[in-house]
Amino acid sequence: MDGEKKKKFYIHTFGCQMNFHDSEKIAGLLSEKGFSEAPDGEGADLVIFNTCSIREKADQKFLSELGRIRKLKRQKPGLRIAVAGCVAQQMGQELLKKAPYVDYIIGPQNLHALMGISPVRTTEDMPRLSIAENPELASMELPAARKKKPFAWVSIMYGCDNFCTYCIVPHTRGREVCRPWESIRREAEGLAAEGFKEITFLGQNVNSYRSGELDFPGLLEQADLIDGIERIRFVTSHPRDLSEGLIRAIGTLGKLCEHIHLPLQSGSDTILARMNRRYSFADYRDKIEKLRRQAPGIAITTDIIAGFPGETDNDHEATMDALKEIEYDGIFAFIYSPRPGTAASIFEGQVPDSIRKRRLNEILALQNDITARKNMSLVGTVQEVMIEGQSEKNAARLSGRTRTNKIVNFDPCPDSRKRIEKSAPGKVVNLKIIRAGLHSLDGRFFTEDGI
Ligand code: SAH
Ligand code: SF4
Ligand code: F3S
Repeated sequence: MDGEKKKKFYIHTFGCQMNFHDSEKIAGLLSEKGFSEAPDGEGADLVIFNTCSIREKADQKFLSELGRIRKLKRQKPGLRIAVAGCVAQQMGQELLKKAPYVDYIIGPQNLHALMGISPVRTTEDMPRLSIAENPELASMELPAARKKKPFAWVSIMYGCDNFCTYCIVPHTRGREVCRPWESIRREAEGLAAEGFKEITFLGQNVNSYRSGELDFPGLLEQADLIDGIERIRFVTSHPRDLSEGLIRAIGTLGKLCEHIHLPLQSGSDTILARMNRRYSFADYRDKIEKLRRQAPGIAITTDIIAGFPGETDNDHEATMDALKEIEYDGIFAFIYSPRPGTAASIFEGQVPDSIRKRRLNEILALQNDITARKNMSLVGTVQEVMIEGQSEKNAARLSGRTRTNKIVNFDPCPDSRKRIEKSAPGKVVNLKIIRAGLHSLDGRFFTEDGI
């Protein structure tokens, strides 16, 4: 840039881990193009919204932010605005019409379009609308500016073919494509060489991964061999595709952590069928039993939707019973939100808002008791904790995660000689759990040299 002041970008991210990882790729691409990162939207020349449209609320949050940035553009006409992510894909041209002050629309399959962006705006800059289907997606290797060292997300597949009837994702992220293992391995080995310690493999349905002869358990076996990587996680699993092979891998591979996020959505078979989930509660329960036999102590978390169209009180009770029976370590529960273009949005029997909310509250209250009880049962145990850094609530304390993905807050080692060494992000320490809350545990160093 020859002494010229670098143009700055700021990314505002909504949605799932995949979207957050896409933002790391956007940052990586923009850095290569000569941009640097601004601490906030006000200080930026290019503001990117990486959007989510999974529920109406997510949509609305973005639209209100967009209004704010429009005002900023009035004061600062050189400001460029880009909208990426699932809303960009879904609204496309319509968004350009509705918000003509938006400069670029970039769907999740088209991040590479940013390779054309110039730090200095020209008319031959990149196209305003990049939302075409991209069959090359699986073979693209985009640079990622990762923020959470020593933790790294690694995409293994994109898109989704499942078409659960409530879900917008197959409409925004396109058809499922898998990255070749060689490309994933190169990235993972590179991360290990840079000092990353934990990898989370990302895909909407990692269990259906296949590249040539390699399936998902096979991929995990290969990844387990990569020197320098100490922990491996993955999200998300579809219960129907959870194979015996994967259950075995969780029980046997040393680096693979004992946690699985396995979205149930509903405990009622009628509702599961209407959701097009293609498993029954009995199938699901059977897999949970096998997982718990293979990996005792495994943490299991899930997603639940309250008030899906046609859900009766009995169906809701079936979900409550499922929660009581399975005793999840934690859940994400959502009010059903009709999404444009999805099958369920025009189903009969849409449940009134007040009932959806009441059911959601019942689900959350029940689960809070279960989570508290489960966390309490860990008091007195010793857990391997990988340090993340300062605790969010108290900068004098440290925070990390157990292999089962529970947050543990703790005081730094009292011995000042060991203090620095034991505070390093990525370090694994043994901590005794001394207290348990709903969202986190409290630990303390267990042995004199606790490492
Ligand atoms: N691919 C992942 C989940 C992606 S979306 C999977 O299949 O597990 C994350 C969660 O959002 C879903 O599990 C579901 O519980 C919830 N969700 C998706 N669409 C929704 C909608 N229209 N209304 C409410 N919740 C929804
Ligand atoms: Fe959506 Fe279902 Fe695909 Fe998950 S598996 S992303 S819920 S369509
Ligand atoms: Fe949202 Fe798209 Fe992720 S809709 S949850 S950002 S796949």
